[in-house]
Amino acid sequence: MKEVQDHWFREAKAKGYRSRAAFKLIEIDRRKRVLRPGQRVLDVGAAPGSWTQVAAAIVGSRGEVVGFDLKAIDPAGLPANARVLTGDLREIELDALGGRPFDVVLSDMAPDTTGDPSGDQARSARLCHELLDRIGGWLRPGGTLVYKVFEGGDYPELLRRTTGMFEKAKGFKPPASRQESVEMYVIAERLRAQRDEPPTANEDPNAIARPRPRGWGSQSS
Ligand SMILES: C[S@@+](CC[C@H](N)C(=O)[O-])C[C@H]1O[C@@H](n2cnc3c(N)ncnc32)[C@H](O)[C@@H]1O
Repeated sequence: MKEVQDHWFREAKAKGYRSRAAFKLIEIDRRKRVLRPGQRVLDVGAAPGSWTQVAAAIVGSRGEVVGFDLKAIDPAGLPANARVLTGDLREIELDALGGRPFDVVLSDMAPDTTGDPSGDQARSARLCHELLDRIGGWLRPGGTLVYKVFEGGDYPELLRRTTGMFEKAKGFKPPASRQESVEMYVIAERLRAQRDEPPTANEDPNAIARPRPRGWGSQSS
């Protein structure tokens, strides 16, 4: 297993990526085509910055990537279309991120692990719910979200909530992710338009009888 880790580490170094996490996004994009030239991308939990590097190269000079993390990210050497900030998911405002929703939101966020798998998994799921609480403001309708979660007891509910918010959501484990790791990536496509109020009968004659999509609103503690 150490050999596999060393392989990705050496590859990252050779290609100038800040961490081997780069290969997870490369693999996700190769298989699922989440990034395209010209897009605006938000990278949540971005330190030390390898996903920002990969995304900035794919979206190109007509696109842009904004990355933030609790930890400071060194801007030196990042492409000109990448901007990085220090901040907490729970506190950062859309204005600080550029003031308008993004085409794609990526999150490789993870809590500091403690060695208690069920506690780590619960903290990871909570971070993901906190991200979903904000996604209606950060991602444009029709946009794509990719987020990491530690798979465990809270995963089915998280996926159910995501499926309610997006037209399609599926888990994916990239080969660059260690086989024994519980990390999983959820790829959610086509964010449904969020409504503050249910549609009126004038807008949609079936509206009164139709339940609202499940998954909107805060579920985090
Ligand atoms: C696995 S690392 C991300 C690696 C990154 N994708 C890369 O390619 O370089 C997970 C990051 O999530 C960040 N994180 C955890 N909780 C956060 C929060 N509440 N707000 C912002 N970032 C957070 C951590 O500080 C950590 O740097």
